[in-house]
Amino acid sequence: MSIIELTEEQRMVRDTAREFAESEIKPVAARLDKEGRFPSEIVKKLAELGFMGIFIPEHYGGSGMDTLTYVLALEEISKACASTGTIMSVNNSLVCDPIYTFGTEEQKNKYLIPLARGELLGCFSLSEPAAGSDAGSIRTTAVRDGNYYIINGTKNWVTNGPEADIIILFASTDLSKKHRGISAFIVEKETPGVIVGKVEDKLGIRASSTSQIIFEDCRVPVDNRLGEEGQGFKIAMQTLDGGRIGIGAQAVGIAQAAFEDSIRYSKQRESFGQPISEFQAIQFMLADMATRIEASRLLVWQAAVMKDKKLNLTKYSSMAKLYASETAMWVTTKAIQIHGGYGYTTDYPVERYFRDAKITEIYEGTSEIQRLVIARRVLNEYGF
Ligand code: CAA
Repeated sequence: MSIIELTEEQRMVRDTAREFAESEIKPVAARLDKEGRFPSEIVKKLAELGFMGIFIPEHYGGSGMDTLTYVLALEEISKACASTGTIMSVNNSLVCDPIYTFGTEEQKNKYLIPLARGELLGCFSLSEPAAGSDAGSIRTTAVRDGNYYIINGTKNWVTNGPEADIIILFASTDLSKKHRGISAFIVEKETPGVIVGKVEDKLGIRASSTSQIIFEDCRVPVDNRLGEEGQGFKIAMQTLDGGRIGIGAQAVGIAQAAFEDSIRYSKQRESFGQPISEFQAIQFMLADMATRIEASRLLVWQAAVMKDKKLNLTKYSSMAKLYASETAMWVTTKAIQIHGGYGYTTDYPVERYFRDAKITEIYEGTSEIQRLVIARRVLNEYGF
């Protein structure tokens, strides 16, 4: 594996995740994908394992571990089922993390504890039909009315949307201030005026659900504002800095699954009188797969460690997500090539890995947005 030495606790959590994924998730992953069914029973077990709030301190309902432990577990879960990985990563990175970082003590006691324990499920609601990459242009509004805000607008691409109990919502409290007018809120899904809209029929991660959420005169208490008015865009960006590490880990998991299946298949499958693993054409693909996966994993681990050290990780989490997601797409494409016609059928899981990999290049910021983030920073860093 890697020269980087993991602690006993990190290895233990990784091994627990691996065993759970192998025995309880992998055997049902293809069926969940085919049926497009949200795996409630698996999510419940993830909660029992403490995987829904891994890096949240124990007194707030979490497992009190670090971000590296989180990515180790997430890689293993995603290796078996990328849909389950998505559900887990959103709850940890995009929901528990911002409440832990920006929430009041009251918000932490009321929402973070049950979310980190996995008793409640969360989702993150930033994108809109006409504002995806340009997150600063969202049009959903939150208008103050006494001790409440009245929310109106439509949100898109909300992972966990249909099942979630709690929504981390971004809305504008002052449209004239553009991104500086955006504020963040913790919204209970049961609040009148919250409507789950269209549930998407997706290419991949089909066992996770993605929907629109519509807000119609939804009244949210002022006490549920996360951070100050106008701080929402920074909360979203900082949260995504962490979330992108998780997507990197998910991508590494998908790529690792496709790589291992390719090794196995190439040793078994014979062509021209020998296992296809004997051919350089196959070996070169396997070598490049192994190298790119290793590099991706190291970038993900580096970003995870930087997060725990509270270093400025924006560039590094974008690099980890960019490289790992493009690696997952590349590796899964080659995995199908190695499997030939069989790889193009649902008899083998590589077609699922290929479909699942694609989203990692899109959500939590497309590859193009990651390049933009990285380029802006490197141009700034080098003063010549
Ligand atoms: N941390 C803290 N603050 C940040 C920041 C960061 N990482 N990045 C930017 N900011 C701050 C800047 O300092 C700036 O502050 P000031 O107003 O004080 O000047 C402000 O935010 C605006 O920054 P930019 O000028 O860089 O903003 P921009 O509009 O040019 O570009 C962007 C920003 C990087 C393109 C951003 O809009 C972005 O990341 N877009 C992609 C959005 C995204 O990832 N969406 C995914 C949604 S979640 C999802 O996929 C669904 C799901 O359920 C999983």
